Amino acid sequence: MSSTDPVRIALIGAGRIGANHAELVARHVVGASLVAVSDPIGDAAARLAAALGASTSTTDVADVLGSDDVDAVLIAAPARSHTELVVAAAQAGKHVFCEKPMAVTLADADRAIAAADSAGVVLQVGFNRRFAPGFSAARAAIDAGRIGTPQLLRSLTRDPGPWGGDPARVPQWTIFLETLIHDFDTLCFLNPGARPLRVTAVADALIRPDAKASGHLDTAVVTVVFDNGAIATAEASFSALYGYDVRGEVFGSAGMVTAGRGDTTDMVFYGSNGIEIDTSRRDTDLLRSSYIGEFTAFVDAIRSQKPAPVTGQDARTALAIALAAIRSVETGAAVDMNEVTA
Ligand SMILES: NC(=O)c1ccc[n+]([C@@H]2O[C@H](COP(=O)([O-])OP(=O)(O)OC[C@H]3O[C@@H](n4cnc5c(N)ncnc54)[C@H](O)[C@@H]3O)[C@@H](O)[C@H]2O)c1
Repeated sequence: MSSTDPVRIALIGAGRIGANHAELVARHVVGASLVAVSDPIGDAAARLAAALGASTSTTDVADVLGSDDVDAVLIAAPARSHTELVVAAAQAGKHVFCEKPMAVTLADADRAIAAADSAGVVLQVGFNRRFAPGFSAARAAIDAGRIGTPQLLRSLTRDPGPWGGDPARVPQWTIFLETLIHDFDTLCFLNPGARPLRVTAVADALIRPDAKASGHLDTAVVTVVFDNGAIATAEASFSALYGYDVRGEVFGSAGMVTAGRGDTTDMVFYGSNGIEIDTSRRDTDLLRSSYIGEFTAFVDAIRSQKPAPVTGQDARTALAIALAAIRSVETGAAVDMNEVTA
């Protein structure tokens, strides 16, 4: 492929986030074209392909993996299908963008990384927060030494409420493997070069206490101690009534950076009950520019034959922290990262 050819992308998984990603790839990512959509259920792929002008839709992923008209795949299927899809796509010679988590075991993470390495394809993972302008500027300030040595870090994710999900349909440990995994990556991104050493986690079902007995968890706090001495906190809730809330903070020996705001515009309403701002209710609104940024970076990596800016190894590191947090909840004790091997 020349550096000017559009990268021809097939979406795998036409659900909520896949539909968002496909629309961005089709209409807002320079150098990309959406050529195919695959989803095994009903007419989801056909409807999305028709809406976005993709020429191919299929219920069989083998059709896109075997197509000479597809350069890369964007995997937005459910978490537990990711590793098999990454491996199959890499073996078919396709570049791979995979939503988080890339895997739910370290063995699977290693398989995905090895498959991409041996095929020589780009493998990028969907830690989009790195591409949000505020988080990216925070990292630049840290790289420039402006906050000195990082000492305290915070990252949080609060999904918009009221939470209307069915606890029985939320896979076990989702809060760690699919929600906080963003925060674990953010903590590593904002503490560059440092390795996580020890993890402690507390989790509960504060939003749906009735579901706690069946293992449901919707609220969690995790501490991570890094090898440069920095102490970090990640927290998540499934239900913030005021809107979607994603923030980060790094406090260092010479200053502090914060990133993440929920306001949708700079309009402030002043009325008899006080002051109000409007907040985002959806990740696809709050973090839209970060999604466009990550897909643009993926396309650039493919066209310029550079490594992906968010690698399989980054996914493995965040996963290892998530697995340590799960073990900490199970045991009630701090967990050394070197105990997490599977
Ligand atoms: N980065 C982010 O901000 C972000 C946000 C939301 C979701 N996600 C991640 O994206 C993934 C999908 O989440 P979602 O909310 O869109 O889920 P979803 O359930 O809405 O959609 C999943 C889709 O995948 C299809 N599917 C199932 N098995 C498949 C297979 N083997 N091959 C292809 N398609 C298959 C389903 O039919 C469905 O249409 C999850 O891993 C989730 O953690 C990331």
